[in-house]
Amino acid sequence: MNDQILLSMNNIFKSYSKNDVLRGISLILNAGECVGIVGKNGSGKTTLLRIISGLLLHFFGCLKTYGNIISALIETPTFINEFTGRENIKYLLDKKHQSRAIEMLKSLDVNEYLDKPTRAYSQGMRQKLALSIVFARNADIILLDEPFNSVDIQSSNRIIEILNNYKNQNKGIIVVTHNISKIDTYCDKILLLEDGILKISNKTNDFDQQKYQIGFLSNNDFLLAQSLLSGYTLNADKTAENTLIVTFPKGSLSIILKKLSNCNITNIIEIKTDLTGEKNV
Ligand SMILES: Nc1ncnc2c1ncn2[C@@H]1O[C@H](COP(=O)(O)OP(=O)(O)OP(=O)(O)O)[C@@H](O)[C@H]1O
Ligand SMILES: [Mg+2]
Repeated sequence: MNDQILLSMNNIFKSYSKNDVLRGISLILNAGECVGIVGKNGSGKTTLLRIISGLLLHFFGCLKTYGNIISALIETPTFINEFTGRENIKYLLDKKHQSRAIEMLKSLDVNEYLDKPTRAYSQGMRQKLALSIVFARNADIILLDEPFNSVDIQSSNRIIEILNNYKNQNKGIIVVTHNISKIDTYCDKILLLEDGILKISNKTNDFDQQKYQIGFLSNNDFLLAQSLLSGYTLNADKTAENTLIVTFPKGSLSIILKKLSNCNITNIIEIKTDLTGEKNV
């Protein structure tokens, strides 16, 4: 990571009618840095990526990008279904980036389907095609909304490898994800989007304690997390299904996520903190 700033956002506000989704987002993305953003459904993660990518123009605040171009995968990718993967790549990319996308797609194990129509692609194959196209552009800033959706473990590892290569090339990456598996192997900073603001979570303070409420997708994950974090658990809140409340030092989100992902507990559906503990960045 170096000090060259690729993106700076200051006090971004966005509302849909009376729904104030973003209430003062400030963020700096440096070259060679990957920022991970987690947050519960509807917290505004995609809205934020849409604003950064220029897809959403109506917002308040200051957004400056210093990078060359932005390449983004936001929500479900769409393709021309009658075209093959190779033809979609040729349709969507400049000639100079096409072979790179094809090589990347092969390395993600879609070799056999490269010349089949994308209507025959599984969800994971579509995701891999979209990622290959996003990665092949020579963008300085890459935005990824749930990049690991439907992707098998082997290819997820390959994607992490690609992300780390991009960081080494001084590109900047923002990843929005519910899948915290190995998040610390590619993210330099993990932020929580909650109540319309970003809260930092990579610094610990041994003196101040904070409550974290964590919701799990499955009861199995909940039970495993409960035993893993038993020393820190306040209660297993039965009113909210599969939800734990734990007490950790302030700003420990990345540490908690690491503990969970080390035990393959990766499907978190909600993380909540009380407002007093975390810092707005
Ligand atoms: N085009 C829109 N019109 C009105 N409201 C919208 C629109 N897009 C998003 N919202 C609302 O904005 C809020 C944030 O939505 P957003 O899609 O950014 O959340 P998210 O964090 O990406 O959620 P998820 O984890 O489910 O993908 C939600 O309350 C949603 O209903
Ligand atoms: Mg979203």
